[in-house]
Amino acid sequence: MKLVGLVGWRGMVGSVLMQRMQQEGDFAHIEPVFFSTSNTGGAAPAMAKNEKTLKDANDIDALKKCDIIITCQGGDYTSAVFPKLRASGWDGYWIDAASTLRMENDAVIVLDPVNLDVIKTALSRGVKNYVGGNCTVSCMLMGLGGLFANGLVEWMSSMTYQAASGGGAQHMRELLTQFGAINSEVKALLDDPASAILEIDRKVLAKQHNFAADETKQFGVPLAGNLIPWIDKDLHNGQSKEEWKAGAETNKILGLGEAFGTPVIPVDGLCVRIGAMRCHSQALTIKLKKDVPLDEIVDMIAANNQWVKVVPNNREDSMRDLTPAAVTGSLTIPVGRLRKMQMGGDYLSAFTVGDQLLWGAAEPLRRMLRILID
Ligand code: HSE
Repeated sequence: MKLVGLVGWRGMVGSVLMQRMQQEGDFAHIEPVFFSTSNTGGAAPAMAKNEKTLKDANDIDALKKCDIIITCQGGDYTSAVFPKLRASGWDGYWIDAASTLRMENDAVIVLDPVNLDVIKTALSRGVKNYVGGNCTVSCMLMGLGGLFANGLVEWMSSMTYQAASGGGAQHMRELLTQFGAINSEVKALLDDPASAILEIDRKVLAKQHNFAADETKQFGVPLAGNLIPWIDKDLHNGQSKEEWKAGAETNKILGLGEAFGTPVIPVDGLCVRIGAMRCHSQALTIKLKKDVPLDEIVDMIAANNQWVKVVPNNREDSMRDLTPAAVTGSLTIPVGRLRKMQMGGDYLSAFTVGDQLLWGAAEPLRRMLRILID
């Protein structure tokens, strides 16, 4: 059995990964070694077999013993440890949730229901680094992969509605704390049916403008009752890094672009943080290469993988099935609001939602592990 090192398994993405690995029986196929950055020598979790204590996640010699390492420890850990580990001669497989190595030539972005061919080609070439994609990109491709697989997409614009969890666990807590603080501010007025809504609104705004620094520490500004039209770094060309990732990673996942000797498919848009918990949603405008009938488009999307689910484009189904609250905790990727736009028969509108901790983070990693060991 392969010795598989697990790093960052206690954090939010790591915990979802552990849950999914248990649900799918992955531990039956591996010899796990649990690493820690803070509790070396402590007790490993119940899934441990022979190695019952936590190893030091910064101990290159300990890491070197592993055939495969999966890390959800974050980009700083990858930057600090990965180069040293490779420099030490380690030749194992590195599976990583962090973005650090994603765009490297010797790394593949894994999303096997969409790019198993790219993964298999890389494996046969001896590529050893496999990295999970940006959550928004992975969820979008799980939903719309059928259009790309059929060569139908000329370009795509993605307008995102990204949940607090994309920032991390502390961001989710901050959002809820803000909601609570706003509610407390107006609770008495809400309890009085005769109170004036504009008075409630004034007090909400006053609270948002006067949050203490520690109430907006993670997001920098209020998110509750608000939105933030910028995610990740400023690339100083008008684009946020999250928006840049949409184009760069979509093409890399699909095996398109200079490195593959093909033209890229332009994918661009605006990324916006909203007050959802852990599902990212996206409104897509897709320029098709030709005017394909909508029923054929629906069939292509639905047939692409077993997780995508086309939601009929009506009010009732959209409200019930196409929301973060409906999708959270599920691997299903609904795609709805499918219709041809007023601009012409080759312009398609779509809306999709995905749990950013599942397909957006943990699931492609555990599936890559299974590809390596099965
Ligand atoms: N960058 C994403 C976000 C997180 O902030 O929502 C995961 O890729």
